[in-house]
Amino acid sequence: MTRHFLRDDDISPAEQAEILDLALVLKRDRFQAKPLAGPQTVAVIFDKSSTRTRVSFAVGIADLGGSPLIISTANSQLGGKETAADTARVLERQVAAIVWRTYGQAGLEEMSLGTTVPVVNALSDDFHPCQLLADLLTIREHRGELAGLTLTFLGDGACNMAHSYLLAGATAGMHIRIASPAGYTPQPQVLADAEAIAATTGGSIALYTDPAEAVTGVDVVVTDTWVSMGFEEEKAARVASLGSYRVDSALLARAKPDALFMHCLPADRGYEVTADVIDGPQSIIWDEAENRLHAQKALLVWLLGHNTNP
Ligand code: CP
Ligand code: NVA
Repeated sequence: MTRHFLRDDDISPAEQAEILDLALVLKRDRFQAKPLAGPQTVAVIFDKSSTRTRVSFAVGIADLGGSPLIISTANSQLGGKETAADTARVLERQVAAIVWRTYGQAGLEEMSLGTTVPVVNALSDDFHPCQLLADLLTIREHRGELAGLTLTFLGDGACNMAHSYLLAGATAGMHIRIASPAGYTPQPQVLADAEAIAATTGGSIALYTDPAEAVTGVDVVVTDTWVSMGFEEEKAARVASLGSYRVDSALLARAKPDALFMHCLPADRGYEVTADVIDGPQSIIWDEAENRLHAQKALLVWLLGHNTNP
C-alpha cells in the first residue's frame, strides 16, 4: 500500500501526532538520520513560484541523505504536454517520492492514483498540508499542546491555508475560527469534512464575519495573503472586500495577551497584516518558516516507512 499526503485529513489524529513527534526528534538531531542514503531521489515539481517550499524540501531531502530533483513545470512535459498519471508512471521507476506544487487538486489525485510512490501536495489551490504540519509543530513548540487551543484565521476563507487550518486543526483537536466576508467563505465540503473530524477529536469549527469578535480571547491569530497565486487579476476586488480583516495591533490586542501571530509567508505587509504585528513580539513567523524543513523531513520519513510497495 502507498500512502499519499494530498490533504490534511489523509492522516489520522494519531498519525499527525506521530509525524509531529518525529519532526521534533529530527529537529533536535538534524543530521543524524539518513534513511534516504543511497542516495534515493525525491522529485519536487513546481507549477507555481516558491521560496520556502523549494528550499525546505531540497535541504530536507539532502539532510536525510537523499538527492532532491527540483523540476519546474515550464521546463518539463507536465502541464498540458503529458498527463500527471503518465508523468507519475515515469517518475516512480526512478524516484522514492513525488512532491508537487500545482493548481487543481484533481491533478494531484490523478498523479497519486496508480503510482507506487508517495505523492505529496506542496500546495494546491485547495490545500497546503505541508505548511500546516510546520504550523502545528510551531504552535506545539510554543504552547506544548494543540488540543483545546483556539485559532482564528482571518481573510480569504476559501484559500488553501484556510482549508488546511480547518482540516489539520480539527485533526489536532483545536477550535478553528474562520473570519471572512461573504464570497470568501470556505468550500462547504471542506467545512463539512472538518466538522466531522472535529466531532471525533473534541475540536470545533466556527465561521465569523466580524473580525473583532472572531479574535476575542483566542490563542493564535493567523492570516495569509489576500491574493493567492493564480488570483492576481482579482487583486483590486480582494483588497476592497478583505480590507477590514487586516491584522493590526488593535485587532491582535483582542486576542489573549500572549496570543501567537502566524503567517505562512510570503506576506504583503500593509495589506493582510501591519508591519508592527508581523515584526512584533507575538509573531513566530521565522520559527514557522524554519519548521517547514523539520516537518517535511518527518513527513517523508513517515510516508516512505509506510510504503509497502516493492
Ligand atoms: N509558505 C510557502 O509555501 O512559501 P513559498 O511559496 O515560498 O514556498
Ligand atoms: N495562499 C497562498 C499561500 C502561499 C504560500 C497562495 O496560494 O499563494
